Amino acid sequence: MRISIAKTFPFTTPLALLGLLIGPAALAQTPAPATLTVQVNKPGAPVPKNMYGLFFEDINFAADGGLYPELVKNKSFETDDHLIGWRAIRGAQALQSYLVSSDRPISAGNNHFLRLSVGSASPDAGFVNEGFRGMGVKQGAEYTFSVYLRRGPGRVSGLSVTLEEPGQRGSGPETASSGRALAQASITGLSGEWQKYSVVLKPSATAAKARLKLTVEGTGTLDVDVVSLFPKDTYMKRENGLRPDLVQLLKDMKPGFLRFPGGCIVEGITLDNRYQWKETIGDVAARKPLINRWNKEFAHRYTPDYYQSFGLGFFEYFQLSEDIGAEPLPILNVGMACQFNSAELAPISAAKGPNAGSAGDGPTLDTFIQDALDLVEFANGPATSTWGAKRVAMGHPAPFNLKMIGIGNEQWGPQYLERYEPFAKALKAKYPAIQIVSSAGPSPDGDLFDKATFKLREEKAEYIDEHYYAKPEWFRQHVDRYDSYPRTGSKIFAGEYAAQSVGIASEKNKNNWDCAISEAAFMTGLERNADVVAMASYAPMLAHVDAWQWTPNLIWFDNLSSYGSVNYYVQQLYSQNKGTTMLPVQLPGGAKNGTDNLFASAVADDPAGDIVVKLVNYSPAPRAVKVSLAGAKKMGKTGRAFVMASSDLNTQNSLQEPRKLTPQESTFAVAGPTVSYTLAPNSFTVLRIPGKR
Ligand code: AHR
Repeated sequence: MRISIAKTFPFTTPLALLGLLIGPAALAQTPAPATLTVQVNKPGAPVPKNMYGLFFEDINFAADGGLYPELVKNKSFETDDHLIGWRAIRGAQALQSYLVSSDRPISAGNNHFLRLSVGSASPDAGFVNEGFRGMGVKQGAEYTFSVYLRRGPGRVSGLSVTLEEPGQRGSGPETASSGRALAQASITGLSGEWQKYSVVLKPSATAAKARLKLTVEGTGTLDVDVVSLFPKDTYMKRENGLRPDLVQLLKDMKPGFLRFPGGCIVEGITLDNRYQWKETIGDVAARKPLINRWNKEFAHRYTPDYYQSFGLGFFEYFQLSEDIGAEPLPILNVGMACQFNSAELAPISAAKGPNAGSAGDGPTLDTFIQDALDLVEFANGPATSTWGAKRVAMGHPAPFNLKMIGIGNEQWGPQYLERYEPFAKALKAKYPAIQIVSSAGPSPDGDLFDKATFKLREEKAEYIDEHYYAKPEWFRQHVDRYDSYPRTGSKIFAGEYAAQSVGIASEKNKNNWDCAISEAAFMTGLERNADVVAMASYAPMLAHVDAWQWTPNLIWFDNLSSYGSVNYYVQQLYSQNKGTTMLPVQLPGGAKNGTDNLFASAVADDPAGDIVVKLVNYSPAPRAVKVSLAGAKKMGKTGRAFVMASSDLNTQNSLQEPRKLTPQESTFAVAGPTVSYTLAPNSFTVLRIPGKR
């Protein structure tokens, strides 16, 4: 059965054009259809329920300035340089003085604040917070402004709060009148003790790069701390919640798991700089910021003001996983700082030898192991347990049902294996049901990879995390990567992968269709090996268009809007069509998957009663195929096709054209167990054919 062009092809601009160009006459010249056989009668293993997931790392302003919608940067003046994000209006000319003080702070953990002294009253006596490349605010939406204030000597009568759009003077000196006010409030009734004040601001207009201005009313001294401007509109309207458009994009992926918090951020540049989950829970105002390891990593994307506020901490992470229906998969530090940076090691208390680490003031491996044990208790423990009680106090009495933990990110060498062993042993001893993810290092091949894989298999590691960032052609050429992997023993977690249009860490990499279609091709190899590859996630997940360090990324955003890259939609098609049971697919003449740039995989979606066939045509010409469903029963009459196609391999989505290339749905008639279909040039097609096995 042939389907008409108009019905089959999606209507993105390039394809609409193409439909006109090829027409029926051109189609008549296409070679005879290639016949693929889906062996519906020879089903393979079940497809893992959580096979396609997400990988979050706080890189590219993914947390502060992104998913975590606090608009004030450095709200507690606790960064190393205490005034990051803050600027005195007119260079403080209207202030008598200002200083960052520790004199009777709010708490021992939050022990710096801003002290403003005003000699003669002025509308310019104050400070401006720049936000995260500005503050995105929407007309009529509500934002809770809150602050801790303490009145000192003199006659300060209040604090004036203005949300404003900067004037045309750009970065010139701000004055009280240099911006356009979007919302204004005055806080009065100050006391000589620290007190929290809050007020709701409603901007009169939408602005992508607003800023917050605080000025002192009257004369005298005023202490200011924990300044927050937080949107009321968060996902599920949660207090301290997350940015709704971004969470929705994550949820729409139907992700099976959420790997968090990294990535190299887990490891830190030094051990002091590592991610410590215990520092990220409890009272948000008391969470101490930490320099983000990506701040100066790339000279070409130098971001010295990049900190982690941990407003999105481990509690919020578990809650997010629950909200989007993903299994949490925390990755924990194994007592090693990033081996690309300091490679600092935590000593193994009981071990001696070259990799044992030097005894010093720092924590030993036991600390890291204890942190992992405590995390399981925090996630799953009862209210009567030390860490379970903290979860309950934060508002989640039910356990988060944590089932997996990753030990180390991209670690390698004997230093890793010597730490992994006791770590995994202790974790299993206390929590035998927790599944452990181990690391095969940063490369998908080579000596270190082979050695790690060999050893981890010997140790009966449950999952081995493999990472690959490579050119698009690598992905198409390695579609058979897992065909020869052992069918028993350790499963594979493809924890980070993405095609790089130029090269690893190049700022010129693009989220273009060439990369995405090559990933789609490679993923037929993941799906064909779903008995070996248990989980897979594209990397990284989020990037701010004005503040990124790494590209490509799954989702891009600015302060107001966001979009899924073309790669996002490939991931989504796989995730939404993962099915339940693997089905073998034979290519024409028994050719290898990928021969002649035709890639295919298939699954049965048993509950839906569909056979799902994924096809990638990496070629500039249309390709007619016949899909023969051997042994299929109870065939329905109408199939559904989801197609992404563009004759231009450079096609990208963007903030201006967020849906330039997305899956287009159409239907086709099904007359029997052999379905004819014409694949568009450079296309990824998912056919859902009603039929049972
Ligand atoms: O995703 C960016 C980085 O790439 C990750 O932090 C690291 O694991 C990988 O090398």
